[in-house]
Amino acid sequence: MRSYTLTGQQQPRLALAQTQDVPPGEGEVSIDLRAASLNYRDLIMTKRFKDAVPLSDGAGVVSSVGEGVSGFANGDRVVIGFMPAWVEGDINESKQASSLGAPGADGVLRDRIVVPATGLVHIPEWMTFEEAATLPCAGVTAWSALFERRPVQPGETVLLLGTGGVSIFALQLAKLAGARVIITSSSDAKLARAQALGADHVINYRTTPAWEEEVLKLTQGVGADLAIDPAGPATLNKTLAATRMGGRISLMGVLTGFDGPINTAAILEKRITLQGIYVGPVSSLRAIVATGIKPQIDQVFSFEQAEAAYDALEGAGHFGKLVIQISR
Ligand SMILES: NC(=O)c1ccc[n+]([C@@H]2O[C@H](COP(=O)([O-])OP(=O)(O)OC[C@H]3O[C@@H](n4cnc5c(N)ncnc54)[C@H](OP(=O)(O)O)[C@@H]3O)[C@@H](O)[C@H]2O)c1
Repeated sequence: MRSYTLTGQQQPRLALAQTQDVPPGEGEVSIDLRAASLNYRDLIMTKRFKDAVPLSDGAGVVSSVGEGVSGFANGDRVVIGFMPAWVEGDINESKQASSLGAPGADGVLRDRIVVPATGLVHIPEWMTFEEAATLPCAGVTAWSALFERRPVQPGETVLLLGTGGVSIFALQLAKLAGARVIITSSSDAKLARAQALGADHVINYRTTPAWEEEVLKLTQGVGADLAIDPAGPATLNKTLAATRMGGRISLMGVLTGFDGPINTAAILEKRITLQGIYVGPVSSLRAIVATGIKPQIDQVFSFEQAEAAYDALEGAGHFGKLVIQISR
């Protein structure tokens, strides 16, 4: 089978090789992969690792099942959980170690993969493999950020930053939950696309650098009930300013780095619940599939164009998700 691995360099990032098939063991399923999607995390992986098979998010067709597997049969269309060992409940170290697309848990940028059957979710007929492959990381992270601890309520205001994969899923899910959404972007064209998906208020953070003040104006000086921050150090203090007293912030991203000075007093004086988000279990993947939302795919690349797909991710011109079609 064809399989890409990380080179450990920036150009080219990927090397293509032919590798041996492995049969599924007890409780496992072999899947012929049809599509994979890219996440910002995959760029980080290219800078840190080599030799591992990249990409966490894949969908395909069951091609053989191991002993003891029930609920899945040859020909079933399935999507794979980001952490196949995190089936439900809370996370722990062994569940986290099953995160695909990292050393120790080779990912989905190849023709075939063997995973535990408990890590799979059936794809409904109306959903394409490309759409299903967008859900395991970005979709589930948006789900966790909105619903995991204090679920968003109808009429609440949700603040979203940027129009990447997680933010656009969060926009779609927040509207489905009856919330009012304020979303920011560096691009007016992307903001227009967000409005077409139901965003109630849009702010260009390039032309309005004090976007947190704009959020306060839009909420009569109160602030958002829930903010989802994908950027971290450069945005969190502004996100704190834009969130209401007693509100909550789901911190889930590192777009502006991994550490920085944070206004800790604002967290306690405003009694903010600051919750760390790390993707979510297979049960949340099943839940998001069941909502019927249509994933927003910006561009689909062929397997041979995988390197170009990474270039597009790095260029950040996309709205929603970038996908690689592995086979038809
Ligand atoms: N904790 C977790 O479980 C988890 C899961 C998934 C992702 N993440 C993290 O979440 C972040 C987003 O991931 P993704 O896959 O959705 O990324 P993505 O699709 O690559 O999103 C990139 C977009 O983020 C926006 N952005 C960049 N810098 C920004 C800033 N300073 N302020 C506001 N928006 C900014 C831009 O949107 P515009 O072009 O509209 O400006 C950019 O196009 C990444 O750091 C990723 O590692 C974490």
